Amino acid sequence: MIYFDSAATSFYRPPCVREAVAEAIERMGNAGRGAHGPALEAARAIYRARTLTASLFGVADPGHVVFTSNATEALNIAIGGLLAPGETAVTTAMEHNSVLRPLYRLQKQGVRLNVLPADRKGRVAPEAFERAVVPGTRLVVVGHASNLCGNVQQIRALGALCRERGALFVVDAAQTAGALPIDMAKDHIDVLCFSGHKGLLGPQGVGGLCLREGVLPRPLKVGGSGVQSFSHGHPACLPEALEAGTANAHALAGFAAALAYLQEQGVQALHARETALCERLLAGVRALEGVEVYGDVDASPRAAIVALNVKGMSSAAVADKLWEKWNICVRAGAHCAPLAHEALGTAARGVVRFSLSPFNTPQQVDTAVVALGELAGGQGDAA
Ligand code: ALA
Repeated sequence: MIYFDSAATSFYRPPCVREAVAEAIERMGNAGRGAHGPALEAARAIYRARTLTASLFGVADPGHVVFTSNATEALNIAIGGLLAPGETAVTTAMEHNSVLRPLYRLQKQGVRLNVLPADRKGRVAPEAFERAVVPGTRLVVVGHASNLCGNVQQIRALGALCRERGALFVVDAAQTAGALPIDMAKDHIDVLCFSGHKGLLGPQGVGGLCLREGVLPRPLKVGGSGVQSFSHGHPACLPEALEAGTANAHALAGFAAALAYLQEQGVQALHARETALCERLLAGVRALEGVEVYGDVDASPRAAIVALNVKGMSSAAVADKLWEKWNICVRAGAHCAPLAHEALGTAARGVVRFSLSPFNTPQQVDTAVVALGELAGGQGDAA
């Protein structure tokens, strides 16, 4: 099997992740709900995950790393917990529904929403941010990389603009955490929302947000936290303020192992590997007649994603053929990014998305190019 769906979730994970989860299931109790050995084991694993996350993203206080079940939950906390009716938010047409839908819901409650357009290659003009982010803008939320076509936003420049204009800067790093370097301070990020099971190589069920000192969204959930049990209100101190209920310590133990692995290998070294594979795939498919590739593919950096369609075939038919004949896993159709599809002109047809990992091989890439060549050469189904 050849797995090219790493933007949906990692499949090739270092063995230490599986081992850490298995060990956690055998050894751990409930963190913060006891002082016996198994409870302390869980608490230590979670703290290790927090400190490694803090160190990866340049967060000074590990308490400002909050764990959630996925990036969507983190984005719901950041967006819903920082905006109020009458305030203005700026975002882009390239966003995932995990950004757009919380914003649309708030728009119905009186938040003013400004969605900056993208061109046919999925690019958002820097001048559009310059014009839209004005004093009085409460929050700017952008995806670091498009899950649809891999285009990357220049977050450092956007962060500087937001800081200068007094807007909070929220970054959706679902597709870049663990793949591109991110530094909360240098990139002027107020809230960084991440997924733990994609580029960060952890198990599913882990995501989170990192908060700049002084930024505290209203919580999405309140309840048990293991502290201040007699108070009617949920604790206001981080990280408990934004975490309620039993943590996913088993997955977080695996996540900590993945982070340690990433630290040892180096994010940039791993990204260089997936970028080389991505460029090989791009060069191969661009040379094929009958294959259309989407996005700003000549830009750098990019997420290791190639979005394409094969002439005369639906994206679903291409994905099905790739799986049935070559055992290649890709994602087809719509990718939860409706405005990005509209910008790229793929709303009706969707795209076939190849998303790579540092653990793919050049041989796997070459097989994909041969397979697409066959399909584009007329051996596929009609759309
Ligand atoms: N958002 C993930 C993807 O793009 C699941 O596939």
